[in-house]
Amino acid sequence: MTTISQARSRHREEALRRGIPPRDVDLLLGDLAGERSLSWLIAHGDEPFDDVPLAALLARRYAGEPLQYIRGRTEFYSRTFLVDSRVLIPRPETEILVEAALERAPRGARVIDIGTGSGCIAVSLALERPDLRVVGVDLSLDALALASRNGARLGASARFAASNLLDAVRDFEVIVSNPPYIPAADVETLATEVRDWEPRMALTPGADGTEIIDRIFSAARGKLVLLEIGYGQDAAVRALAEKHGRRVDAVLNDLAAIPRVVISSAAS
Ligand SMILES: C[S@@+](CC[C@H](N)C(=O)[O-])C[C@H]1O[C@@H](n2cnc3c(N)ncnc32)[C@H](O)[C@@H]1O
Repeated sequence: MTTISQARSRHREEALRRGIPPRDVDLLLGDLAGERSLSWLIAHGDEPFDDVPLAALLARRYAGEPLQYIRGRTEFYSRTFLVDSRVLIPRPETEILVEAALERAPRGARVIDIGTGSGCIAVSLALERPDLRVVGVDLSLDALALASRNGARLGASARFAASNLLDAVRDFEVIVSNPPYIPAADVETLATEVRDWEPRMALTPGADGTEIIDRIFSAARGKLVLLEIGYGQDAAVRALAEKHGRRVDAVLNDLAAIPRVVISSAAS
């Protein structure tokens, strides 16, 4: 039997050789040791450790599977969300969208989160603003099952329903969405972790990348719309807003100064 410290150094070296951050070893080792921190692992380095389950998890990582799917969870807006291959892994940029919706949604508003995936946006909004009535919709029943589980685990009042965009929804004031927005041809250029592991339906809506945004604006009529957009899409999204007779109230940049969130209301 090996010790924690021996397993840690052997696997960290192997991870480095394979171009995987050694921190992934620490996180998986910590999980297997009973959700332990790095400082706990270091302090208990002499304790015996069964290497086989760690080697099995790392084999998945070396095959390209994202760390978040292997761990079964990720952090979003300071909470832990369950994730697996049924849903997109929530990204930090999407927290900007949540922040904007928290600031702009009128008191007591009914909010629809289109393409809810793991439910990270809907659940965060419902927990941060209990006055809001939030419904997350998705075309993927698999994603909805996980979103409901996240909502229940975190004690959120958000509800979840199957809908093709807004087809099955009525009576709401605000639309929030991080839609699939990657142009189909660009999917092949994505990191393999994304391209080969995350649901294709969560990544691309078609050739242009803006097809779903176009459909959301078309269906939104007088409602307030807050959207996450892709790299370099701000001009195209502004043009779509204009085409549907809408105003762009603001475009918010992410931490890399890339326009990332569009806030649009109906032109008066
Ligand atoms: C980019 S992911 C966003 C997931 C999650 N909201 C987040 O921010 O992490 C887009 C989501 O839209 C869903 N989707 C794609 N087409 C849809 C449609 N026509 N109607 C409803 N949901 C759709 C996908 O299944 C996926 O869950």
